[in-house]
Amino acid sequence: MASELQQAALENGTAAAPHAGPHADATARTCAACWRQPTPSRRVRATDSPVIAKSKAIIAASGRTDVASLAQGVVHWPPPAAALAAAAAATAAAAADPAGAAAAALHSYGPTLGLPPLRAALRRALAAAGLAGYEPVVTPGANAAFTITLLTIADADDAVALFAPTYFNHRMAVQMTGGAAALVTGPLRPDLRPDLDWLEAVLQRSGGGGSARPPRVVVLCNPNNPTGVLLAREELDRAAALTGAAGAWLVIDNTYGQFVYEGRQHYCPAGPHSEFRA
Ligand SMILES: Cc1ncc(COP(=O)(O)O)c(C=O)c1O
Repeated sequence: MASELQQAALENGTAAAPHAGPHADATARTCAACWRQPTPSRRVRATDSPVIAKSKAIIAASGRTDVASLAQGVVHWPPPAAALAAAAAATAAAAADPAGAAAAALHSYGPTLGLPPLRAALRRALAAAGLAGYEPVVTPGANAAFTITLLTIADADDAVALFAPTYFNHRMAVQMTGGAAALVTGPLRPDLRPDLDWLEAVLQRSGGGGSARPPRVVVLCNPNNPTGVLLAREELDRAAALTGAAGAWLVIDNTYGQFVYEGRQHYCPAGPHSEFRA
């Protein structure tokens, strides 16, 4: 394995060719002249750079200081005071008794699926959104949730469909877990809504390998980053019906589900997935 990686590094020009004579330092296992840098995996090398980093590089290269990047939005409001107070109380209790239970609760492993009171609160929130009976799993952020979801429901050779433009990390997660060839990119209509006629057509493909495979996973982002479009109940129900009939997963990133204008309602369809039900 190591020699294959080293060979790949040599072929990619990222490693120095080994020298013919003895090592400069005979006691070292390697010396600088014969060190061959192994490369990251082909999947990672074929993964996009984050648009945030690309924008920063373009602005830096321009030498201008009067340009603002809109590639990343960062909330400007602080966490709720109650959350800050609870965090401060927890760390104070741990500091007061470093060998006690309060300290252990902070630094040792917790329940794998998330803290029970947090999961109970999430269950209530899901039920209020019409998604009763589901078992929420707590992850360190939505990107981790998305990557874990892909690893759970798709194999490396499965096709994953998403609509461009969409949240850049979704593309990157597919590229990293399945490889660039796993990506099937669907179009938006002129009104920036996903073209569900296209989705219907690709889901009805018979397969046969290569890009002709029907997607096993379809990804939507609602409201969408970057377009801001909030999908209608009918569109979401149609996407759910199409994927359900094709035996494909529908994954919806609802990160901005509460960022809707007054008078509009965020909606998330539910499938009869026994795996994730309580
Ligand atoms: C649509 C969408 N999903 C997920 C994320 C990332 O979420 P997290 O920081 O919780 O991983 C973002 C952040 O910009 C996002 O826009």
